[in-house]
Amino acid sequence: MFANLLRLYQLPRLVLQAPPIRALSTSEPRFKLDACNLYEKLKFEFDEENKKRAEFLISTYPEPERRGALLPLLDLAQRQHGWLPITAIQAVAEMLKLEPFVVWEVANFYTMFNLRPIGMFRLKVCMTTPCRLRGCDEIWRTCENVLKLKDGETSKDMQFTLTATYCMGACVNGPVIAVNDDLYEDLDVPETEKLLSELKSGIMPPAGPRRDRFASEPRSGLTSLLTEPPSAGFGMQELSPKAKPC
Ligand code: FES
Repeated sequence: MFANLLRLYQLPRLVLQAPPIRALSTSEPRFKLDACNLYEKLKFEFDEENKKRAEFLISTYPEPERRGALLPLLDLAQRQHGWLPITAIQAVAEMLKLEPFVVWEVANFYTMFNLRPIGMFRLKVCMTTPCRLRGCDEIWRTCENVLKLKDGETSKDMQFTLTATYCMGACVNGPVIAVNDDLYEDLDVPETEKLLSELKSGIMPPAGPRRDRFASEPRSGLTSLLTEPPSAGFGMQELSPKAKPC
């Protein structure tokens, strides 16, 4: 345990001072924390409730495959702490009996995990082709201008973190911004400004399409499912052989 901590002692310096590893990231990191202070101030331990959750998650995997619980455990740690300090990486590694570096590599790979402190609202703007065709560049510029942030930066008051990201699987509703766990879709510049001002005043508006759609139905009206669907079992009785009377 102590040897592991010693080996990890150098990691925060590397993790926290390195630029965020995201293909679209161009800005310098804002957080340059000192490793010693980090250990003093940001000790991590699962609280009682999350410890039980973590143990349950681990118990759902057979012993040789317990590393399967790695992603849910990292998520749990991040939800408890807000981001993943190196001490949380260590705690997860100990629970799963994995090398801390393996856990760190996984956390570093997925953009959903934050290895640095982030703002209360983490905004991820999709910059992949379908959203681009629907005007995400304008949405991005609006976010930059309103929040006065560049890619990867966090506001001084720790309210916002802004990042450009890749497809989030809601292409049919592009352009899309993810705010923490929720997706805000069908955005244009006025709707983005409205969303940002709501977030600035601490309000988390309802997620989903922000314009004239309920979900992802075509704007021009339905093109299929135009009639009432037949009831369950439709056509089955005609196809099956007639039952013989007893
Ligand atoms: S391209 Fe933006 S959500 Fe898929």
